[in-house]
Amino acid sequence: MKIAIISGSIREGRNSAHVASWVEEHSAAFADADLSFEVVALADYSLPLLDAAGVPGALNRAYTHPAQLAWGQKIDEFDGYIVVTPEYNHGVPGALKNAFDSLAPEWMGKPIAFVSYGADGGVRAVEQWRQIVANFDMYDLRATVALSLFQELMGEGLDPLERRAAEIEAVLASITTATRVMTLGRAALASVNA
Ligand SMILES: Cc1cc2nc3c(=O)[nH]c(=O)nc-3n(C[C@H](O)[C@H](O)[C@H](O)COP(=O)(O)O)c2cc1C
Repeated sequence: MKIAIISGSIREGRNSAHVASWVEEHSAAFADADLSFEVVALADYSLPLLDAAGVPGALNRAYTHPAQLAWGQKIDEFDGYIVVTPEYNHGVPGALKNAFDSLAPEWMGKPIAFVSYGADGGVRAVEQWRQIVANFDMYDLRATVALSLFQELMGEGLDPLERRAAEIEAVLASITTATRVMTLGRAALASVNA
């Protein structure tokens, strides 16, 4: 089983890279022979704005754009996701929304957790994400970390408050459990339906 830590900003000098690295550091304690974590940087995929005629949910992964295909193949590798998301204009960042819109079956029925940051911790973006991922029947987890842009991200990288260690461990415990349970469940359903 694999869990992706998606670094969700594509901006130059993005804070999402610092936050994703911090999540990855803490994830080591939750990995074992059956479960690994990997940072996936959206910025590495140069994903175009979705302008193809085909709707991803109806294409059965047969995308025509190579970057969309590569992004889909990467996301398909994982059984669960921790999304590191900024908040732009009180909502989800457009590039990351486009990255969700560009795929469909790859996300379906899997667990997802959010780590956000912003002036108010990015919580408005996370609440919007919960509505969006409902369309993929994803299981969005209650536990989050909402980092303060001004208190924790204004220096060189991330300087987390002391309580954040416990918060990210709660997120990791939750996504680890949900990923194990839901992966087993999907496999059981597939064998019943085979
Ligand atoms: C277009 C844009 C809109 C923003 N709007 C908000 C906002 O509504 N709320 C907020 O807390 N921060 C906002 N910010 C500040 C971001 O939280 C901050 O720039 C953060 O570092 C962005 O994440 P990134 O560096 O990973 O892209 C905005 C930044 C940008 C670029």
